[in-house]
Amino acid sequence: MTIGAGTAAGSGRTALVVGATGISGSALVDTLVDDGWSVLALSRRPGPQRAGVTWLSADLTSASALAAVLAPENPSHVFFTAWSRQATEEENIAVNAGMVRDLLAALRGKDVSHVALMTGLKHYLGPFEAYAAGEMPDTPFHEEEPRLPVNNFYYAQEDQLWAAAEEQGFTWSVHRAHTVIGHAVGNAMNMGLTLAAQATLCRDSGQPFVFPGSETQWNGLTDMTDAGLLAEHMLWASTTPEAANEAFNIVNGDVFRWRWMWPKLAAYFGLEWEGYQAEPRTLEQSMAGREDQWRELAERHNLTEPDLDRVASWWHTDGALGRNIEVVTDMGKSRDAGFTGYRRTLDAFTALFDRYRADRLIP
Ligand SMILES: NC(=O)c1ccc[n+]([C@@H]2O[C@H](COP(=O)([O-])OP(=O)(O)OC[C@H]3O[C@@H](n4cnc5c(N)ncnc54)[C@H](OP(=O)(O)O)[C@@H]3O)[C@@H](O)[C@H]2O)c1
Repeated sequence: MTIGAGTAAGSGRTALVVGATGISGSALVDTLVDDGWSVLALSRRPGPQRAGVTWLSADLTSASALAAVLAPENPSHVFFTAWSRQATEEENIAVNAGMVRDLLAALRGKDVSHVALMTGLKHYLGPFEAYAAGEMPDTPFHEEEPRLPVNNFYYAQEDQLWAAAEEQGFTWSVHRAHTVIGHAVGNAMNMGLTLAAQATLCRDSGQPFVFPGSETQWNGLTDMTDAGLLAEHMLWASTTPEAANEAFNIVNGDVFRWRWMWPKLAAYFGLEWEGYQAEPRTLEQSMAGREDQWRELAERHNLTEPDLDRVASWWHTDGALGRNIEVVTDMGKSRDAGFTGYRRTLDAFTALFDRYRADRLIP
């Protein structure tokens, strides 16, 4: 891929990144700015100031707030990476599909040429409340699989995207990621920072780094999505005519087994490790009540985030590592269409941990 600083391929283009402080959105902001784009970055709370980025603050659940904040703007490309976790899938559908609908409605009459929507492998696995229950497509997951016969907010978001594309005349792309690792704090699902927090707490208490998941995940093949690669993929699909009006999987391009990865992550943090246990020790159990330990640790090491709740998402990592099914993803469709980006997942983890250290998120 020829994306990067110096190419200025994006000069003259204006991106609206929705959910710009998120794990995916923040990587997109960086990738687009490095590629020469002007970026309108939307979330409720602003992110870091950077040349080329204008922060817009609006609540996506308020159509009038969106209309007001976007009235003076004219983005050429939209990248939708926001979501708001609700208690049930019905509520996820109402809120998250509503956010796509109202955001796109606020852009009616403007010169939007492409809208890229980020979703995920729950497209194939089912929503959290019916996760991997019932019939599932065979692995590796392929884009052309029919939808599962259960309600899913990703399907509802796609439907809103397609309806608006038809009416407003833009092209679209959908990006189905596996577990994303990236650089963000205070988000609902962040396996990279969660494992870094687990390792930091274990080291502080002289405990081993214990794999919290299932035998299937420990022994089976799996894959992952680096947030930077996801950003490159969304940029690619948004600017490549052959990729228009398609849904694509997006994973790193390698496969691994946790029984291979876990000792390497432990070695990075200088920890002893323990693998899969017959009675898995979930992070929600083993990391419960560590808030004060983290606060003290943050003070001792001059860390930027003393609130463990904003660093670790134990529930999400427990869910991803606790699955009793194999999750592997096919990337052939993207490759056929010309996307050749990849990451080695171990390198993605260690580069991310290095960055957390440099930014004083972990010692
Ligand atoms: N994280 C993963 O491992 C993963 C894996 C596969 C698929 N996915 C999917 O990818 C999509 C994006 O997830 P993510 O994990 O990247 O998101 P995230 O890190 O949780 O970020 C969400 C973003 O949306 C913004 N946001 C949330 N509610 C908002 C509201 N009412 N108004 C305005 N902005 C709002 C947040 O900023 P403010 O809170 O400041 O508003 C933040 O910028 C979701 O559909 C998710 O299911 C995620």
